[in-house]
Parts: sequence; C-alpha cells; structure tokens
Amino acid sequence: MTEVSQSPLGRPAVHESALGHVTGSARYVDDLPEPAGMLHGLPVGSPVARGRLVARRAERALALPGVRAVLFAADVPGHNRIGPIVHDEPLLAEDEVFAEGQVVALVLGDSVAACRAGAKALELEFEEMPAILTVAEALEAGSLLAPPHEMRRGDVAGAMARAAVIVAGELHTGGQDHFYLETQATLAIPGENDTLHLESSTQHPTEVQVACAEVLGCARNQIVVAVPRMGGAFGGKESQASQFAALAALGARHTGQPVKVWLSRDLDMTMTGKRHPFWSRYRAGLDARGRLLALEVELVADGGWSVDLSPAILDRGMFHLDNGYFVPNLRFVGKAVRTNKASNTAFRGFGGPQGMAVIEEVLSRAAERLGLDPAEIRRRNYYGDCPDEHGPENMVDVPVPDGDQTSAGADVISLVRARCLTPYYQEVPHCRLPRIHAELLARCDWEARRAEIAAWNARSPWQKRGLGFMPVKFGISFTNTMLNQAGALVLVYADGSVQLNHGGTEMGQGLHTKMVAVCAHELGVTTAQVRCMATATDKVPNTSATAASSGSDLNGMAVQAACAEIRERVRPLAAELLGTTPEAVQFAGGAAHGPGGRSVPWSDLAKTAWMRRISLSAAGYYATPNIAYDRTAGRGKPFHYFAYGAAAVEVEISGLTGEHRISRVDILHDVGSSLLPTIDVGQIEGGFIQGVGWLTGEELVWDPKGRLLTHGPSTYKIPAIGDCPAIFNVALLERAEQDSTIHGSKAVGEPPLMLGLGVVSALRQAIAAFGPGEVELGIPCTPEAILRAVVKQRAAAVTRAADAAE
Ligand code: MTE
Ligand code: HPA
Ligand code: MOS
Repeated sequence: MTEVSQSPLGRPAVHESALGHVTGSARYVDDLPEPAGMLHGLPVGSPVARGRLVARRAERALALPGVRAVLFAADVPGHNRIGPIVHDEPLLAEDEVFAEGQVVALVLGDSVAACRAGAKALELEFEEMPAILTVAEALEAGSLLAPPHEMRRGDVAGAMARAAVIVAGELHTGGQDHFYLETQATLAIPGENDTLHLESSTQHPTEVQVACAEVLGCARNQIVVAVPRMGGAFGGKESQASQFAALAALGARHTGQPVKVWLSRDLDMTMTGKRHPFWSRYRAGLDARGRLLALEVELVADGGWSVDLSPAILDRGMFHLDNGYFVPNLRFVGKAVRTNKASNTAFRGFGGPQGMAVIEEVLSRAAERLGLDPAEIRRRNYYGDCPDEHGPENMVDVPVPDGDQTSAGADVISLVRARCLTPYYQEVPHCRLPRIHAELLARCDWEARRAEIAAWNARSPWQKRGLGFMPVKFGISFTNTMLNQAGALVLVYADGSVQLNHGGTEMGQGLHTKMVAVCAHELGVTTAQVRCMATATDKVPNTSATAASSGSDLNGMAVQAACAEIRERVRPLAAELLGTTPEAVQFAGGAAHGPGGRSVPWSDLAKTAWMRRISLSAAGYYATPNIAYDRTAGRGKPFHYFAYGAAAVEVEISGLTGEHRISRVDILHDVGSSLLPTIDVGQIEGGFIQGVGWLTGEELVWDPKGRLLTHGPSTYKIPAIGDCPAIFNVALLERAEQDSTIHGSKAVGEPPLMLGLGVVSALRQAIAAFGPGEVELGIPCTPEAILRAVVKQRAAAVTRAADAAE
C-alpha cells in the first residue's frame, strides 16, 4: 500500500488570521461588541516615583457627569496584593507609591472621556520621598529583589594568569518597550451567582484567573478567562496583563456592570514594565588564538519596583552568559535590584539577550585586539570538539573534583575535555553552531565580501561599511521546571468538523496555525476541518503562560496526545468499514484509507462513530521529561534542548552623522524539522528586526525624578519598514530534526531576536575602519553613540599618523 501523505506539516501555510489581520475583521478585546450597561475603567497612576500617599478624595470626580465610581485599595474585597512569583504588588496603591504610573485609583464611567475628566478631578496628595533610579544607586543601597545567583567552575585566577589577552570592562544594555500594536485590554462581564467572564489580551489566562479570584476573594471556578487573540505581546502580557484584568474584574464586581479597561499608548508605556536594563562588570582571559580561558561576570538586572518575573529573567540572563561558547573557568554572579521605576518584565529573550550581549562584547573586543575576523574568533570558541583548533592544553587546566557528575549522571571531567559542558553543568550534546557557521559563511560569501568591503572602505573617507557575525544558542524550556506542562481538549462533531482547544494563546506568532496543522496531521483531516477556538480557562485548566518560546513544543504534544486518543478509538471502526485490519488503516487528507485505494471520508466515520456510541472528544496532556535545576547549587539541566542560529549582517555608517543603514542580512536558523516554514521564517525576520530595534533605535529616557519621557511613538522609535535590510535572506537549517519534540521541530519565537546583536558586531567593524584600536560603542547604538565611537577612532588615527611622522 502506498503512503498517503497529505499532511499540512512542513508545507507553506498562511497564518490562520492573516486575512482578518489585513482586512480588519480579526477581533481584539476592544473590538468586541460592548455589552449593555458597560462602563469604562481608567487606572490612575502615581505622578511621583516614590512617595507617601497622604490623601485621596474622589468627591469632586464623583460629581462629574458620567463618572460612576472611584475605587481605591480599601474597596478591594479580597487580597489587594498580586504578582506572578511573590504577591508584592498592590493592585491599588496602599500608603506608599514606588514608581511613576503605579496604579492608585480606578475611575469607572460611561465613557473614556468621562473617566479622564474624573481622573483629573481626583484629589491625590503625595509626600515625595527620595527614589532609587539607577542600578548603581540600588547596589549601593543593597536594594535586592531576590538572593544572588551564582555559577562557578575551575580556577579563574590561575587561568587569567596564563591568558595572553585580558579584556575587562562594564556593559550597560538598555530597556525596551514592548510596543505591541494592541495595548493592555480586558473586558469583564459579571454573570449569575458571582461568576465573572473575562475577555482578556493576555499570554497567561490562568494567571489572570488566579489574580481575579484572589482580588475578589472567590474560587477560581467562578472565573472564566478567554483570549480571542492578542495584537502582539512579546512578553509584556505574560504577567502584566493580570493587573489590568483584575481592575476590570474589581470594577465589574463593584458595580454589577460589565467593565472594560483599555490603556492608551501613553498610559501603557508609563504603567507597564519593559525589558530589564542590565549592567555588568566583566573580566575575561583569552589565549593568543582568541580562545576563552576564563570569564568572570557580575550581572545585574534592574527589576523596577516589584519582583514580577525578575528573578527568572536574571536566571535566564545567567544561563546565556556563555551564548554558544565553552568557558572552561568561570565565576558568574547575578543580582536583580529594586528601583523606583515601572516593574520590568518578560520581553522576548527573557534576559537571554542581555546575558549574551556581555560575552559578545568580550569576543568583539578581544578580536579587535588580536586582529581577528569577528566570525573566526567566535568559531574558535564554540561548544564541541573542534580538534583542529582546540589542543588539549587548556582543557586539563580546569580543576574539577574527581568523580564529579552532572545531574544526568555524566562524568564532568570528560564533558569538560570535550568542551561541551555549560557553566550550569548541562551537557551540550551536539552543538550545531560549527555546522551552521560553515554553511552560513558559504551562503553569504563571507570571505569575498570582507575583502570587497575593506577595499571599498579604503576608497571612502566618510562612509564606511562593516560585516558582522552573530551566532546564537538559546535554551528551550521554562527554567522554572514546574511550568513545562500543557493541555488540550479536542472535540470532534458528528459531521467530522473539529474544535481544537489548547492552553496556548495567539499573539501573532502563528501558534494556532501550527496547532491546527498538528491536529489535522494527527487525525488525518484537512486543516479546513479544524477550527482553533479562543483560549479559555474553562476548556484547559491550570495552564502556563504562552512564553519561553515553548508554546508549540508544549501544546503541540498535548494536542497530539488528545488527537491520537480519538483516532485510535475510531480506528477499529474504520477498519471494519474498509474491510481491513486496524493496523492497515491510514488517516490522511480528510479520510481513512485502506488497501486497494479504498477510503471512507472522515465525516462519515465521525457520524458512524457517534451512532456506535464512540466518544469523540478527548483531553491531552504533556509535561517535559528529565529537566530540573538547582538554583542554590547553580547546577542542573534546565533546558530540554537548545535552539541555534547565526546571522551575518552588513551595515554602512556615516562618519559625519553617525547614522547607519543595514544593507544586507543573511540568517541560517535551526528550527529542527519546521512545523510550518512560512510561519517560522516570519518569526525569524520579526525577531531579528525587534532585536535590531532594541540595540539601535529604541531608547528610553527618564527625567531626573524618574518620570518616563519617552511614552509615545513621537519620542520612542521602533524600527519601521524602511529600517529593514534591502537584502534579507533567511534560510532554515536542513536535516535538523530534533529528538523528542513535536514532529522533530524546535521553538522559534525568541532565539532570532538575539541575532540582532549581529548589527552591533557589524557597526563595530564599520567604526573600526575609521581608525586603529579597540572600538568603544555604547548600547543602544544610536547615531549619537556611533558618532562618539567614530570620533574616538579618528582621534586614534590622527595620533598614529603623528607618531609615524616623528
Ligand atoms: N511573535 C508575534 N508576532 N507577536 C508576539 O507577541 N511574542 C514572542 C514570540 N513571537 C510574539 C511573537 C515571545 S516573547 C514568545 S515567548 C513567543 O513568541 C511565544 O509564542 P510561542 O511559544 O508559541 O513561540
Ligand atoms: N521564559 C519565559 N517566561 C518565563 C520563564 C522563562 O524561562 N519562566 C517563567 N516565565
Ligand atoms: Mo516570551 S518573553 O517568553 O513571553
């Protein structure tokens, strides 16, 4: 019998909502029809970064037309404190405020205009207190959000003493606003018997459910949270949708009427947290060939005013200080500090980009000192055996106690010798970077272009070009092991049509499109027969956030399990109808197939199954096996596997204005066996550009009192279409199937963002063309930063010329 293969997997696919996105028919929370009697809820934020709230009066506001109620902390019936890890965030401010924009009151009114008038008429009095606004101030005040995290191995001092090159310095990476197109929004609709239905723009419907239940003092089964879709989230709606949803719930409970809380762009930017700015101090020792011998890093994350997800984000920063490089001797210390700014939160990469930026800075500086190609120095440091480059000499110098084993039971010494042990003692079994590196260099014509660019630069006094390189290795799994679980609920109707429910949320990343494909593949139906339902807590309970790039990994396995169960229940029936054995039946393309070209349509099969009283619905569940991490010991296997990729980036800069343009980008990315290549390529392009935005144009500025000045698109510049490279080649690594993942695929959501660091590498190359010596380039690489770096390089060129003339 021939293989019947009509699976949608691995084929080009259009995002399930693409048409709706471009025609405007795709509905977001604020597009939903407004229920009768609906009120608007407007959160009112603190105008000061730190202070005592000494008076709050609402009488004048309540006297205004259309203002229905004003709620303060005392109006919360249950717990006023929420938060994803620790409950340290007052939903409504109590006696003190800790950041500008911290919500103090909720104004409820008939219209947004009435709420705004009400907010203006509120009488709030603050006694200002001194605020902590920088990482340096926080460190000095000992203002930590969580105990430090430490990783160590070997003999750092000994290795530094043997190093041919020492690179030491400090690095600051800035914050980043999520700038999702759809701002935070939730509609809360009260039901019978103290129940509540919420339509929320959240990555984490369960956390919204939990927060609402706790704030209202009710059981979780009284609350249903549904997510139609999000207009982007990027981590900004992992924990921080909860507060605004809980405010809507509070308003609905208080008034008995539906309440919608929706934030304007300025409010959203002022009230919500951003990517964590990180500050680090590093010291690295390398041998004469540019191989890392030792690395010491103190990594500090600016968490803002509350804990939120900061400890986990710091951890992921620590887990990515190595990027794709083997570091024999090391000591990493991580701290998350509390400052009086909006509470910083998850943002694509979740601390990983900030950690990676440090080791990339180290390698870039070392390459400039040693006169090495930026790709070559990186290649020499990749994980894995590389016999032509890595003599045994620096391996045996890692003192490791005899008999030491990893949590997986492997011998530490042999893993160190094979250069495949991370700083947290997880093995990197088959690092794909050497292969990706070689293929990408060939694809993008690296050597020839380097030579061409050097020749071009020699002729061009004020415009210079640079070719940069950036490899990425990114760990996949929530580093809090417990969160790596997912569920699905599949319903097949008697006409053969399928409703697919799973615990993941759709934010534009194409998760629903992938899940429909997995479901169709598993049942052997067409994608047109499967409808993915809005994510809802009454379909799949106790879900994790759709985050850590693992939405399709986790939910895909759960969908597969649910579908397999239904398929196997109907298999004997199909065999009977086809006159064959159950094993001989194949499900594909909307039919069950037997020998001799016979088939029975899935719709007939479903109908007959119903008549024969065979259950046509099933729940599926998945938990990632064999992962665990011990934060105190700094050891374990936090990740199920690693995703890889690399980018070659060409830029041109102006030495007169500091402006730059990205002329060409080549990316080779490892998504395993791609579930849907068109969706994956979209994630890679978008992630890369978002990374470039973080590293070049996007700059957050606060005034000396800690008030955000860049709270709208006129002052905060995200990349536009004109900033995209003219040549943008994205390819997926072939023959890349991954073990024990859904159909051999790999997560793709976050890793490509870090490829954006390739633009920094490229800019450094272009700047170096202005003069000798190490480049000093601050992040974000704005025109001002680039110009400063160019001026320094040119001064060095003048000095050198003068020296030569003497
Ligand atoms: N892509 C789009 N279009 N919009 C988004 O909000 N979020 C990113 C990434 N890609 C995002 C996106 C982030 S932060 C994560 S963790 C993943 O998508 C989450 O989805 P996944 O786990 O299904 O990849
Ligand atoms: N990544 C993203 N989101 C998370 C994580 C993580 O590792 N842990 C908790 N939330
Ligand atoms: Mo993504 S930062 O894990 O939501």
